[in-house]
Amino acid sequence: MDERLIELLSQNKGEFLSGEEISRVLNCSRTAVWKHIQSLKELGYTFEAVPRKGYRLIGEPDRIDPDTLRNRLSTRVLGHQLHLFTDVESTQDIAHELAGKGAPEGTLVIAERQNSGRGRMGRIWHSPRGKGIYMSMILKPEIPLPLTPQLTLLTAVALCRTIRKLAGVDAGIKWPNDLLIGGRKISGILLESSAEDERLINVVAGIGISVNLAEEDFPEELRKVATSLMMEAGRHIDREELIALFLTELEELYGLYQREGFSPIKSLWEALSVTLDRQVNVRTPKGNVEGTAVGIDDMGALMVRMSDGKTIKLYSGEVGFSAG
Ligand code: BTN
Repeated sequence: MDERLIELLSQNKGEFLSGEEISRVLNCSRTAVWKHIQSLKELGYTFEAVPRKGYRLIGEPDRIDPDTLRNRLSTRVLGHQLHLFTDVESTQDIAHELAGKGAPEGTLVIAERQNSGRGRMGRIWHSPRGKGIYMSMILKPEIPLPLTPQLTLLTAVALCRTIRKLAGVDAGIKWPNDLLIGGRKISGILLESSAEDERLINVVAGIGISVNLAEEDFPEELRKVATSLMMEAGRHIDREELIALFLTELEELYGLYQREGFSPIKSLWEALSVTLDRQVNVRTPKGNVEGTAVGIDDMGALMVRMSDGKTIKLYSGEVGFSAG
């Protein structure tokens, strides 16, 4: 019914169709018409509704088209197994499930909306329909389990390069893997790994990017700390193009990492970092640490020099910037 209603309204785009006319053509009650209009609104369609005139379709949701995306891919492996969903709880759950069933490396899960998008440190990832990119990539690197944080940094570098190239914005990486523009978060990465007997089986790299959100699309509490590519670049960003370019960057860096190890990735990360040489306040599972961020080590840990001159290594945490 939703499909037929969309077809009818699209054929008459720009024109009003009365509830009565719609119910006659589609052979259903006026209440049913109203209910379907509501469910289409949930899917991102916008209407003008005027008493005695009826409904007029004014906007259709921005959707990632799988064929367009496939045509744009220039990767050898990444993204060739593509699973695109309209509504999910979290793309991470689906990717883990697929990986458990033997999905190959490079399998990509994308959703138009997530109802329980997961962030780092137990946070929620705000995932409104059609406005962002919410995707999870299955990787199967042959590396020791303790080295998986290196992949988080690698993913952040790939994403930062993509965003800079495509949107021409000055994005930087806040340790370990938040992308910021002008101090506001534009993207986050959540790496989850599965292991057996201390052996890494696979990694699910979850990537959330605020692409075409306007300020009002963010909940009040995020408005001062988050931004979107559209807000920063001043134009609508093509999500298929962004995903395709990101996969190219990721495949290139992943290949480099497999051939030459972490060292070149580390240098690229350092060059894009907005954390190093700054006074930081890091909230870690073991308490707060204050000092100067002086570098990252080969495991991807952040090295912080404290006021007593000692340097400590942090393996997880949330970086805040202190004055000075
Ligand atoms: C963070 O910065 O806290 C990480 C956010 C990661 C969000 C992405 S959106 C796609 C994937 N699915 C999820 O549930 N989370 C990740």
